[in-house]
Amino acid sequence: MGFDRVARVYCGLERLVFGGRLQRARCAHLGRFVAARKILLLGDGDGRFLEALLAAGGSAEILSVDASAQMLKLSRARVGDAAGRVRFCHSSIEDFEPADGFRPDLVAAHFFFDCFDDAEIVAALRRISGWIAPGGAMVVTDFALPEGGWWRRLSGRVLIAIMLTFFRMTAGISARRLPDLQGLLRFGGWRRCAGTSFRRGLVSSALWLPPVGKDP
Ligand SMILES: C[S@@+](CC[C@H](N)C(=O)[O-])C[C@H]1O[C@@H](n2cnc3c(N)ncnc32)[C@H](O)[C@@H]1O
Repeated sequence: MGFDRVARVYCGLERLVFGGRLQRARCAHLGRFVAARKILLLGDGDGRFLEALLAAGGSAEILSVDASAQMLKLSRARVGDAAGRVRFCHSSIEDFEPADGFRPDLVAAHFFFDCFDDAEIVAALRRISGWIAPGGAMVVTDFALPEGGWWRRLSGRVLIAIMLTFFRMTAGISARRLPDLQGLLRFGGWRRCAGTSFRRGLVSSALWLPPVGKDP
């Protein structure tokens, strides 16, 4: 199983539930991508972030890795001619190894880590930190438990539980609960250096620096 089954309805479902808010969250750090030289997109899905990235300018080499062939197909079709600037790689992150010389200075992982359980996230973070060029960073956008009154917290928990159940049943994701992503990143030695949250904390997007020793 994987995201092939839901690829075509993914964007429509998202718009129905969240309107344009998740796309705003994906693009929260777009300015940093414009200045980057090599960008690695992890599980970028149907390419809405890639489209925004290409429209924003910049001249980075872009590599988009996704385990879903259907998602990659939609992404390629979405960006059309501009796809010439992008390499698409059909692979799971577990099997992926960047080719020699491709050391990204910016990695994007939007709504990607929520698919995994804690052990898988820890393993992935360790590998990603080894790929990033000195001085590089990773932008992580994901769901989080919202702050605020009981109603906001409860409705956030219910919405997240429904989404995880839906993707477990349709795409076979391993996550059974929302991971404490910030905790796992910190545990792995990553440092948060800029962040924004949306929908009172239900979604957050932050720039993370890899463990010390991985940057200059
Ligand atoms: C929840 S979707 C997020 C898509 C997109 N990044 C977004 O912002 O909407 C997760 C994406 O990660 C991909 N994915 C899931 N598990 C993966 C894995 N182990 N390796 C690579 N990609 C994976 C899926 O195919 C899907 O495109």
